Parts: sequence; structure tokens; C-alpha cells
Amino acid sequence: MTDPSTVPSIKFYNGYSMPMFGLGTYLGNEEELEQAIKDAIDAGYRHIDTAFFYGNEKAAGRGIRAKIEDGTIKREDIFVTTKLWNNFHKEERVVPACRKSVENLGLDYVDLYLMHWPFAYQDGDDLTPTDETGKLILADIDYLETWRGMEECQRLGLTKSIGISNFNSEQITRLLSVAKIKPVNNQIEVNLNLPQKRLIEFCKKHDITVTGFSPLARPGNRSGVKIDLGNEKVLGLAKKYNKTPQQIALRFVFQCGAAVIPKSVTKSRIVQNIQIFDFELTAEEMSDLDSKATGERVSPMKQTEGAKYYPFSIPF
Ligand SMILES: NC(=O)c1ccc[n+]([C@@H]2O[C@H](COP(=O)([O-])OP(=O)(O)OC[C@H]3O[C@@H](n4cnc5c(N)ncnc54)[C@H](OP(=O)(O)O)[C@@H]3O)[C@@H](O)[C@H]2O)c1
Repeated sequence: MTDPSTVPSIKFYNGYSMPMFGLGTYLGNEEELEQAIKDAIDAGYRHIDTAFFYGNEKAAGRGIRAKIEDGTIKREDIFVTTKLWNNFHKEERVVPACRKSVENLGLDYVDLYLMHWPFAYQDGDDLTPTDETGKLILADIDYLETWRGMEECQRLGLTKSIGISNFNSEQITRLLSVAKIKPVNNQIEVNLNLPQKRLIEFCKKHDITVTGFSPLARPGNRSGVKIDLGNEKVLGLAKKYNKTPQQIALRFVFQCGAAVIPKSVTKSRIVQNIQIFDFELTAEEMSDLDSKATGERVSPMKQTEGAKYYPFSIPF
């Protein structure tokens, strides 16, 4: 059990705070996820990351509410993030989608509502609409329109804060030029292959915090991308700090300036993953690890590459 008060938090420009460590939930199925959330809260986690697209908000909510009901936490002790999926990007679809997520979770509000991607899919209930050839059907909806709906979610109190995910620096600049409520957070892939130095620096300059997803590069992912945890540098650091290679990888993400949200439904890993706040990699060790970054992405979203708002066609 990690004392939650030893896990650093970051303050948003709007005054709310987010713990720099949380539990990811992508690909966690219903039963295992509910238990994993209870295990995580018992292990000291105070931040849960889910999304409508993951199809497990209800289970996540059951886990969170069980720990509120048994007195382990109060609602205000836990930071809950969920996300707007790509087929709800029309302005009038955003508030109902957010309401549905809050309802799925069985909570009165979420702490952070993120626009999951800057591009949109065909409107409707199919989360991955495809044509007869199997090609994804995109929609030409500007994320600036979607953002107006996101702002309304915050005004209505469905969420305390709003943010973005997978936005590049140009998209952020364009959003900031019109936003009435600025995003507090950009959730992007950050791991040993992809330290995201320039984008994190850019976000910081604009008062936008960063959360790093796939911090372990999701072992076994479909892209076949792996972080190298078996090299001498990582193994040497693991030995030096008496940590596992995975803990070194997670600490690296934290020291890159991002909140870390590894997913696990395995109790021993849940307990171990959060134990990264009792050591610090030196600047030299950080740049050593950095020099090995391959730039590969676990989530390149190749099937959306032609989309107008595809985020990965520019350096950052
Ligand atoms: N915004 C976005 O577009 C976006 C995209 C991707 C992910 N995310 C969020 O970020 C979270 C984390 O990313 P991710 O799930 O893609 O990848 P990840 O956290 O890098 O990796 C998760 C995988 O690593 C395994 N694992 C966890 N701890 C381990 C350890 N100590 N040793 C060995 N294996 C371990 C897990 O297995 P077990 O569960 O079997 O233990 C799971 O298969 C997601 O769950 C989701 O909440 C957001």
C-alpha cells in the first residue's frame, strides 16, 4: 500500500488538482476491471482513467462506488477522467454523450472530460463505422465545434475540468485562439520510445498539463511496438534503485513531466507500479534513456491518416 499523500499532484490553471499517477483501464473487461479498481484504490491510487470507447465505464464506476461506500475514500478524494468518443463530435451530441458517461459511472460528475481524438467519425451509435470495404467512415467536423460542446459540459457541472487528447501543437494553438474555457490537460502517448519532449514543453508553456498513456507501451499491442526493458541501461538502473524495469519505465514518464496511468488488472502489478515515488533518476540517466527513444507509437491510428485533423503528420 502506497500512502496516497506521497503521490505528487499537479495543479490546473483553474485551481483543481490531478494526482500524477492513476490506473488505466483500456482493454480491461467488466469483472476484472471492477476488482482491479478496488485493488488500486486499496493500493493508494486516487486517479482512474477511463473512456466511453473502452465500454467499461459501468464496471469502473462500480469499483469506485464500492470504495466510497465502504468508507475507504470520499468522492472528492478520487480523480476520475473519461472521454468523448469520435462519433459524438457534433456540438449537440457532446453534452448527451458526457451525461451518458457520468451516468454509466454512477457518479454526479467527473473530474476531467477529454476529447479523445481531434478527428471525428460518422455520427451515429456505431463506435467504429466502416463502409462495405471495411474502411473507417470519417466525418468532417471541426474540433472547434466539438469544443463548444465540451465547454457546455463544464458549465453544466457534468465535469469539473475539460481537456483534449492526442492533439498536436498546431491544433492546440488553433483551439486556444477561440476557446472560452482553455483545456487543462492533453493526454498523449509517452513512454521510453516516445518521450514527447517538445509537445510536453509546448503544453507547459500554455498552462496545459500532460498525461502520458501507454507508459509501458502496452505489451502485446497490435502495432508490434515494444519498449526495450532488457537493455543494459534499464537493467542497470533497476539494479541501482532496487526497482523492476517496468518501474524504471514508469518513473521515466513521470520525470518527462507527464502523469502516469499504467493499466493493469493484476493485483501484484497494480501494487508495484505505483511504487515509483521513492527514487529519482538523475538528469544524466534521463538523457541516457532518452537517447534510446525510437519515436515509434503504440497508437499511430493509421486508419485515420487521411483525416483532416490527423495529429501525427507534423513533428509534434
Ligand atoms: N487517450 C488515448 O488515446 C489513450 C490511448 C491508449 C491508452 N490510454 C489510457 O492509458 C492507459 C494505459 O495505456 P495502455 O493500457 O495502452 O498501456 P500500458 O499501461 O502501457 O500497458 C498495459 C499492459 O501492460 C501490462 N502491465 C501492467 N503493469 C505491468 C508490469 N508491472 N509488468 C508487466 N506488464 C504490466 C498490463 O497487463 P495486465 O493488465 O494483464 O496486468 C497490460 O497488458 C489505458 O489503459 C487508457 O486508460 C489512452
